[in-house]
Amino acid sequence: MNIGSDEKKQIARLLNFLLSAEKIAHSCAAKQSKLCDDKTMKHFFIKQARQEKFHALTFQSAILWLAPKGVNSPAKKQIQQYESILNDAIDNHDLLNSIIGLQVILEGMGNVALSHFNAGFKQRGNGYKKIRNVILAQEDSHYDFGLNHLKTCTSPAQHSNHSSNYLSLINDTLLSMQGLFEYFDEDADEYISEFNAILPAWIHENALYHYSNA
Ligand SMILES: [Fe+2]
Ligand SMILES: [Fe+2]
Repeated sequence: MNIGSDEKKQIARLLNFLLSAEKIAHSCAAKQSKLCDDKTMKHFFIKQARQEKFHALTFQSAILWLAPKGVNSPAKKQIQQYESILNDAIDNHDLLNSIIGLQVILEGMGNVALSHFNAGFKQRGNGYKKIRNVILAQEDSHYDFGLNHLKTCTSPAQHSNHSSNYLSLINDTLLSMQGLFEYFDEDADEYISEFNAILPAWIHENALYHYSNA
């Protein structure tokens, strides 16, 4: 299937957004591995950091192919703010907060976005379809890790304020990309409701309550 240069550019912009999220995930997982003493968790974070680097490289090469002259990245400001509150959690040695921010909320949003977004990969044939499936499976395992970790928390409600910050930024991010979503006949509100539907119940009971009343 042939696509026009404008469509290539818009796909590259969307991939640029995903690339920013992959870079945050790589850097945060690498820092998380240094924050915890538990061997199994440490091993998971190191493996995740490696996988996120592979995802970033994959997106980078697709962007180069689609838009060799480069394209701007949507929601840059919101993504920077997201990274900054994640880094605050890491600096405060608040591993649980960082897991909520990365493995649960950012990965949850990424899973919804990736499962919708086929176009950039379809253009490159079966090779990229396979890579996309590998990436999706790895992202699923990161999200599952986050959810399983939350089950071990005694009072996750304490962290609802942190969740509110992350969720509010995700909401701002997706809404700021409305124009790009419309280009692909996608609906940002649909992403937001799908994303909310996959979050754990306690986030709905606590964080989302504050978030929707903010
Ligand atoms: Fe990733
Ligand atoms: Fe991930």
